[in-house]
Amino acid sequence: MSLYAIGDLHLHFGCPLKARGQMGQAWRDHERIFRENCLRLVRPEDTLVLVGDHSWGRNMDECAPDFDYIQRLPGRKILLRGNHDMFWDAKKTARLNEQFSGKLCFLQNNYYAYGDYALVGTKGFTFEGPFYLDGKGRITGWDEEAQAHAEKIAARELERLRASFEAARADGFRQFIMFLHYPPTNILERDSGFTRMAEEYGARQVIYAHCHGPQRFFDSIQGAYNGVRYSLVSGDFRRWMPLKALD
Ligand SMILES: [Fe+2]
Ligand SMILES: [Fe+2]
Repeated sequence: MSLYAIGDLHLHFGCPLKARGQMGQAWRDHERIFRENCLRLVRPEDTLVLVGDHSWGRNMDECAPDFDYIQRLPGRKILLRGNHDMFWDAKKTARLNEQFSGKLCFLQNNYYAYGDYALVGTKGFTFEGPFYLDGKGRITGWDEEAQAHAEKIAARELERLRASFEAARADGFRQFIMFLHYPPTNILERDSGFTRMAEEYGARQVIYAHCHGPQRFFDSIQGAYNGVRYSLVSGDFRRWMPLKALD
């Protein structure tokens, strides 16, 4: 039994015009490459966590072919909410879990067991600018109104993350793997409410996505930091190969 994770499939089988070619060379034929990698790697008894930005579809109808694709991947599939997942009303996660019962699992305000571990998570949030730069590209300031708004969204996401941890803890779990769609910190931060919560609950790993392209891959923490292991798993960073997080 193994635990795998990857994010940002950005599928568009149901709305092909919008996204064709939009994401650049790393996304060329990525649906086929990713599926072939999964078929080689992931066994039926394994768990595959998809860390948000599943579909460009704007509603359930446009997303339906993307869900079909995901359902046909091997293993148990657990989905996290990304910023592009318009089909996922944050208040209706339980409804999605009913609708896809036995096929897909949706992670928000809840948790999923993986052996002795609880898989917990939420979309997360971090301030991504606008930043103001000087002539040499150094940050001299940022949009403070946008930053204040980002802090409110992050606070709500931290409540959801705590609900996820607490649900697992109430059921006796003491070991956690934590998933976020957004990176846990932005380019200005060394830590955040998300890193502090990971440390508070003793999460072994934090796995996140959302960062696309070589200019963004190293926006946040990777590797060991204060006893927690951080991994970026956006699909283009992983070149469509899921990360094996646990055996
Ligand atoms: Fe994305
Ligand atoms: Fe994203």
